[in-house]
Amino acid sequence: NAQGVVDQIERQFTLSPETLIDLTKAFLNEFELGLGSYGHPMAMIPTFVTGVPDGTETGTFLALDLGGTNMRVCEVVLNGDKTFNLIQQKFKVSEALKSGEATALFDYLADSVHTFLITHATTKYASPHSVDAGAAPTGDIVHLGLTFSFPVEQTALGAGKILTWTKGFSATGAIGNDVVKLLQDAFDRKSMHVKCVALVNDTVGTLLSRSYIAGGSIVGAIFGTGTNGAYIEEVAKIRKLANTPIAEKGGYMVVNTEWGAFNNSRSHLPFTSFDNAVDRLSINPGFQAFEKFISGMYLGEIARQVLGSLVDAVPPILFGGKGTPVLNAHYGLDTSFMSNIETAWDDNDHHTIPSLDAFDQEQLHPHVRAKLDRIRQVIVEDLAFQSEKVTLKDAAIVRTICYIVARRAATLSGVALATVLVQTDYASLPGQAKSLKNEKETINVGVDGSLIEKYPEFEKDLRESLRVVVGEDVEKRVDIGLAKDGSGVGAALCALQALKQIH
Ligand code: BG6
Ligand code: GLC
Repeated sequence: NAQGVVDQIERQFTLSPETLIDLTKAFLNEFELGLGSYGHPMAMIPTFVTGVPDGTETGTFLALDLGGTNMRVCEVVLNGDKTFNLIQQKFKVSEALKSGEATALFDYLADSVHTFLITHATTKYASPHSVDAGAAPTGDIVHLGLTFSFPVEQTALGAGKILTWTKGFSATGAIGNDVVKLLQDAFDRKSMHVKCVALVNDTVGTLLSRSYIAGGSIVGAIFGTGTNGAYIEEVAKIRKLANTPIAEKGGYMVVNTEWGAFNNSRSHLPFTSFDNAVDRLSINPGFQAFEKFISGMYLGEIARQVLGSLVDAVPPILFGGKGTPVLNAHYGLDTSFMSNIETAWDDNDHHTIPSLDAFDQEQLHPHVRAKLDRIRQVIVEDLAFQSEKVTLKDAAIVRTICYIVARRAATLSGVALATVLVQTDYASLPGQAKSLKNEKETINVGVDGSLIEKYPEFEKDLRESLRVVVGEDVEKRVDIGLAKDGSGVGAALCALQALKQIH
């Protein structure tokens, strides 16, 4: 029966407190491995960012941001009073550029910077010669910070080799090469007077920008097209840096965890047959295991796999056994569809979905009926169904599936955050005796990405799982702040840092 099948799926997508704690332990192990030596899936990348801003920084910089929903070129003015001004232009990166020759992709990035400089940029740049950006490309050098939201093994603030592509990119001739050089070569091919001086991951940018705005922060995390986190680690604990000049200096360094690759070995994550299908059909099977449970690029596809199984059930459980071209297409269902369903349901009045077996359209509470009807309309519109083909019962099933897929994503996200707090001694695991840092202070976390920004209840569910692992006292002290446009600001802050090192 329909209810039995849906219940069984829901059980597979529900994680017990014990599972969350086990996952955190496995996560901590992978942190240790990655900090100890190179070449692990969870790369724990030293970023060479050794301090965080306090809001007093000033200057004007250009930033280029690749790897989220949009590619963006920004001009960032740091006012030095925890505020900034930003103007930006968004550009689309076509599928052909994502999977073609890297030189074509980097030429496109350079062209976009050129377009921005001649149409948008307005102010003088903080460079040794302080040039008028409007005069580029014939003026003096313009300094740029690159936010590159992919795994890069950094060797300095402004250098690093691309380790692998993620999130649907596969351009050839990039992996193993220095991303700053790839971009600089493109600027030089076009005789542009732009110099890329700093490289940051979006998580690092988010951490720095949250720190600039809030006067301090220990974690930057992205829950968007992909997911990842960066945090401040003691250099002494980054054991793979031993015997390097930076290790001798000690202190702290921001580490980009690349947690999207957690548990690629599949020993702990709660894979269902739907997750296996998503992975098998992806362009990188076996990689980014954790990211495929969580991020916006994949949630719609997981939900599509589940809905498809209910359409195909014998006898059919959903849509009378019929799909639409949208529902049938690989990646046809965008995560924004799930968000629209959740918004249409609007859980504020705490009504529950009636049992599917006794589902009687006529007997529905008027509120529930109105809510299900809104969902029905979203389905008709977003999945291109003929209106009469979707019932209120279909709407009820779709809402449940979207809810359980998104809740699992948020719950696992809470585990990632809990891991960082335990790793940095802001929290302990249940039953673990250790002295904690600054037991009264607020724990500042910067976040960015379409999921955490827009998905209803994502942060609430994330917090609930964080509470399970680290306890309510610690969870209550965690201040999760959106670092909107954070990556651009972070790249600017890094460019400032890099210029100070040069001069
Ligand atoms: C943007 C940042 O705001 O968020 C990007 O500028 C980041 O650097 C992105 O990658 C993440 O969110 P999404 O949803 O666009 O992937
Ligand atoms: C992917 C990338 C990572 C990035 C994250 C969020 O996981 O590998 O570098 O930070 O997406 O955009």
